[in-house]
Order: sequence, then C-alpha cells, then structure tokens
Amino acid sequence: MIERTLSLVKPDGVEQNCIGEVIRRFEAKGLRVVALKLIRIEQKQAEAFYAVHRERPFYRSLTAFLSSGPVVAMVIEGEGAIPLVRQIMGATDPAKAEPGTIRRDLATGIERNVVHGSDGTETAATEIAFFFNALEIIR
Ligand code: CDP
Ligand code: MG
Repeated sequence: MIERTLSLVKPDGVEQNCIGEVIRRFEAKGLRVVALKLIRIEQKQAEAFYAVHRERPFYRSLTAFLSSGPVVAMVIEGEGAIPLVRQIMGATDPAKAEPGTIRRDLATGIERNVVHGSDGTETAATEIAFFFNALEIIR
C-alpha cells in the first residue's frame, strides 16, 4: 500500500549537517519526498507535537530539545512508507538500533537521535496535518 508519513530531521541532525544524508537514505529505498520545509518549532508546538509523551520523565527535555534549533519537516511517500521509514531510522535508542540505520550511524543519544518518523496510520495523518496543508504536498 502506498502510504505517507511525517519525518523530521531533529535539531541535532540539522546541526550535524545530516539533512542530505537522511533524505539520501529515504530516497535510496525508493521513497519520495512530497513536501519539505526548514522550520523552527516553538516550545508550545513541540509540547503539542509530543503530547502523547506528556507524562514521561523525558517530556520537558525532549520538547526543549525539539525547539532548540532548526528542524526539517517532510512528508515521505511510498510503498509501506510508515514502517519503512521506521526501519531506516532504527530503534529509538541508538545503542539498540541495527547497524546501518540512521540512528545507529548518526545519533549521539536516546534523546538526540537525529530523526522522527510517524509510528502508524493515524499518527501519520495527524502529524502530516500538524506541519503541512494539502496545497503543500506535491505529487
Ligand atoms: O522517536 P521514537 O518513536 O522512536 O520514540 P518515542 O518513544 O516516540 O519517543 C519520542 C522521542 O523522545 C525519541 O525519539 C527521543 O528523542 C525521546 N526519548 C527520550 O529522550 N528518552 C527516552 N527514554 C525515550 C524517548
Ligand atoms: Mg514515537
């Protein structure tokens, strides 16, 4: 099934000049970028984006991190895009991520893990709409 998912290059990834490397890895697996922008996420927006983690001990630090610098937001489209992007990203904790994944290769910690990808069909729809309107998704 052709799917769309929301991916972010987080502030650490942008700071490390890894925007191109993240996109290259998606494209190398046949995925397409159908929307893309460089943005700043305000603290309040970061709190809304990660609201599902509101009760977790890392919530304050995570939302401060996400709003600490520029972020690339993009919509990625392709066959099985939601699980495929998660596979290319690797596990949340880079120490547990498979070799050859973005997080294993580029992340510097469990919080500073370079990339975000939606974790399911409903979250993908919600997260895409969080950053992009219909006219910004080009196919
Ligand atoms: O990003 P992913 O879906 O793999 O993980 P998550 O469980 O949805 O957590 C969201 C983000 O919170 C992670 O990507 C990390 O940046 C951060 N996090 C953290 O700082 N410490 C943890 N123990 C778990 C997640
Ligand atoms: Mg998640």
